[in-house]
Amino acid sequence: MVNRLSSSPLLKRVSSTIARGFSNSAVKESGSEWSNALSIDRANVGHSKVSRNTRAAIVATVATGGLAAWYAHLYGNPIKAVTVAEHGLHPASYPWPHNGWLDTFDHASLRRGFTVYKEVCAACHSLNLVAWRTLVGVTHTADEVRALAEEYEYDSEPNDEGEIEKRPGKLSDYIPPPYPNEQAARAANQGALPPDLSLIIKARHGGCDYVFSLLTGYPDDPPAGAVVASGLNYNPYFPGGGIAMARVLFDGLVDYDDGTPATASQMAKDVTSFLNWAAEPEHDERKKIGLKVLIITGTLWAISLWVKRFKWTPIKTRKILYKPPKV
Ligand code: HEC
Repeated sequence: MVNRLSSSPLLKRVSSTIARGFSNSAVKESGSEWSNALSIDRANVGHSKVSRNTRAAIVATVATGGLAAWYAHLYGNPIKAVTVAEHGLHPASYPWPHNGWLDTFDHASLRRGFTVYKEVCAACHSLNLVAWRTLVGVTHTADEVRALAEEYEYDSEPNDEGEIEKRPGKLSDYIPPPYPNEQAARAANQGALPPDLSLIIKARHGGCDYVFSLLTGYPDDPPAGAVVASGLNYNPYFPGGGIAMARVLFDGLVDYDDGTPATASQMAKDVTSFLNWAAEPEHDERKKIGLKVLIITGTLWAISLWVKRFKWTPIKTRKILYKPPKV
């Protein structure tokens, strides 16, 4: 076999020593000739080649190490333009009731959260993307929301004289903003603009954890060494550490109609959950549909697997025999 191989045109170009060695050992004419040929090979060319290679490898390694050290010396220790304080303290990860794959919002908490928004945050922050009607069945009954909307006045359609009269709010109206425009908002807040809160949970890294930490993260005094510009309040979670919004939540600030004690952290949790609902009103429905989709596609997948195996069984288990024709 080896003999045939070595005499085939495939191996013809191989150095004659090795080729001869192969055929020799194969025909067992002289087993030592092959090893002789190999050792001669090594003695003649191999030795000087190996040491040259080794030298080249050492030089290359040293050069690479040197280059890496030089690079690290130049760029390895960058001066950071942003400190940890400028990034803002990373909020802790809190066990929100709606965090799980199959968990919906805690709607009692959403209802309390709306109370906090209305009584506290709405003095400065708008909620422009939330219409009264969307609260129905989420935090309040239709009658309750209608009564809430009627507390506010909206512009009506122009009458026959072209005058715009005021009318009480309806379910289809949007929650009114505290200021008519950005300039008025800034003027009332020493130049700072209280952002619209409709999508704030999605708009901030850390979502609920960040907003909760921000609301509860005002220490009585800034830590030693922290410099806060005048007019700003120290809050380690806010990037830069100085925020124009002062602490707004204090124990007992609102009265919950379900009797829950209104501690500062309770209010922060409730209003944060409510703002999460405002940013993701489809949240509960999404998870409910998601579960159905998983169940249905999972079942279909299992059935299709079974059908595939059923159809392929005859093909997978058949045996192909070659019967050579009798000559
Ligand atoms: C007295 C006015 C005022 C009240 C009341 C108020 N805020 Fe603010 N809020 C501000 C201002 C001003 C800013 C802008 C801060 C800045 O840019 O430094 C702000 C900013 C924020 C931010 C954005 C922080 C960021 O990362 O940019 C959030 C979130 C927030 N407020 C939530 C709330 C919530 C929730 C409430 C109610 C519990 C509330 N605020 C009540 C004035 C207020």
